[in-house]
Amino acid sequence: MRPKTTLPFHHLSTAKEKKTEARALLIISGGLEAVPGIIRAKQMGLYVVVSDQNPEAPGFALADDHIIASTYDLEATVAAAWHYQRTVRPIDGVITIAADVPLTVASVAEQLGLPGISLESARLASDKLAMKQKFAADGVPIPWFSPVDSSEHLRQIVAEQGFPLVLKPVDSRGARGVLRLVGPDIDLDWAYQLSRSFSPTGRVMVERFLPGPQVSTESIMIDGLAYTPGFSDRNYEYLDRYAPYIIENGGDLPSRLPDQIQQAVRELVQQAALSLGITQGVVKGDIVVFEGQPRVIELAARLSGGYFCTHEIPLNTGVDLVGQAIRLALGEKPEPSSLIPRFQRGVAQRYLMPEPGRVVRISGVDEVSRWPDIALCEIRVKVGDLVRPITNHPARAGVVIATAEHRQQAIDRAVEAIGCLKIDTVPVVESPPK
Ligand SMILES: Nc1ncnc2c1ncn2[C@@H]1O[C@H](COP(=O)(O)OP(=O)(O)O)[C@@H](O)[C@H]1O
Ligand SMILES: [Mg+2]
Repeated sequence: MRPKTTLPFHHLSTAKEKKTEARALLIISGGLEAVPGIIRAKQMGLYVVVSDQNPEAPGFALADDHIIASTYDLEATVAAAWHYQRTVRPIDGVITIAADVPLTVASVAEQLGLPGISLESARLASDKLAMKQKFAADGVPIPWFSPVDSSEHLRQIVAEQGFPLVLKPVDSRGARGVLRLVGPDIDLDWAYQLSRSFSPTGRVMVERFLPGPQVSTESIMIDGLAYTPGFSDRNYEYLDRYAPYIIENGGDLPSRLPDQIQQAVRELVQQAALSLGITQGVVKGDIVVFEGQPRVIELAARLSGGYFCTHEIPLNTGVDLVGQAIRLALGEKPEPSSLIPRFQRGVAQRYLMPEPGRVVRISGVDEVSRWPDIALCEIRVKVGDLVRPITNHPARAGVVIATAEHRQQAIDRAVEAIGCLKIDTVPVVESPPK
């Protein structure tokens, strides 16, 4: 279903940009969440080439041209971009929007001689174990962690470390295979096998689960300094409902954390980015504040997904984060002042998580979409689809983003919208295998 989306940068002037920019930008990913970024790039007067494996990728409809290549297949994307550059037109910059493919972007940048983070930084950002080892070596505060080689090894670690722990694949995303181990009830063989099944390289790690407020940050590093307009309190109200899976139910802006903790988070993000060797580039942080001290859960070297960079940050602060990231990808240096929040409006995001079963009816979408304070209302299932129990983030069935002058008003409105949107399902009785 097409989302209702009010882009937060419709007011931005494009006339001047059009005169000075006639360059080509390759955007890796044409998925739904990349669409607002593609629109922003077009608005900046760029010639936009989108690459994606899916010939029906929604971003293709808005792009000037497209390349068919899997975002995860860096060799295919590099080869296709190289061919495009030689046979069609030069590419001036490469970026990804809402896809976790920093290695693909860095490889294209390196092969085509474009601005970007180093391959080594991208490699560290693509492997949670390598990242944590680098952070540990550089003294970046993180939870205790260890690689896990087998379920026997996991049992040994549990015996030594005790609960609570988090088990996760080292190279997946979207909370797939991320499990919170809280006590002896959990079957460790099952947990190990499940987590491992989500790792393309069959590798798993464990960390101490740190309780405390969780925040998402999004920053642009300029000359080694982090500018962090993106700062959201993540909502984990369903930690127990979906246990042992860790499912986030959106987030709220501006943050309610005290200023001095927010400052410590910003400093930590900068320290972590420098540890990964990123002095120019975008970093998206998952941070937990444990006993008043921020620790890094992970740092992604790319623009965020979940409409954080395209909607929540500009609505909350007036900062055109995607536009500035695009400038960086083209080799320009954003003005630091362009990354300083101009205001702090309330923004709240909540997800739709219907009962598992076959979808028989969807209602409330037209009504909610008409509310002026709803900036985004997106339903990701249709009648006839099977909704499975929610075990990771892509499995969430829809999302709303509300905005209001104050944070609490935005939260109330998002919760009201979720209450109005109904996805009715009927249980499916699986027939036994013949
Ligand atoms: N050590 C930890 N302590 C507390 N929460 C954690 C920890 N590790 C992961 N989480 C929670 O699980 C979520 C998903 O884990 P993460 O490592 O970010 O993997 P993914 O790449 O799937 O996002 C995090 O955003 C965080 O909420
Ligand atoms: Mg994460």
